[in-house]
Amino acid sequence: MVQVPAGSSLLNALLDAGMTPNYSCKDGLCGACETKILSGEVEHHDSILTKKEQAANKSMMICVSRCRRGPLVLDM
Ligand code: FES
Repeated sequence: MVQVPAGSSLLNALLDAGMTPNYSCKDGLCGACETKILSGEVEHHDSILTKKEQAANKSMMICVSRCRRGPLVLDM
C-alpha cells in the first residue's frame, strides 16, 4: 500500500516507494504510464483518454490523474 502525499502525483509516490512504473512525459501526454484500475474511482487529468474511456474507469495515467473515491487499487 502506498500513501500519496498532498501535492504529489501517484507516479511520484510510487517512485518514492521504490516501485518502477513505466513513465516518460509526466504530463499526461504520452500514455507510457497508463495503468489498469481494479477498483476505486479516478479523477482523470490526462490528454489521452477520451471522455468515454475516462468514464469507463478501466485505466488511468498515474502521472497526472488522482483518486476521487477510494481505496484505489491498480494492477501494477
Ligand atoms: S508519463 Fe506520459 S502520460 Fe504519464
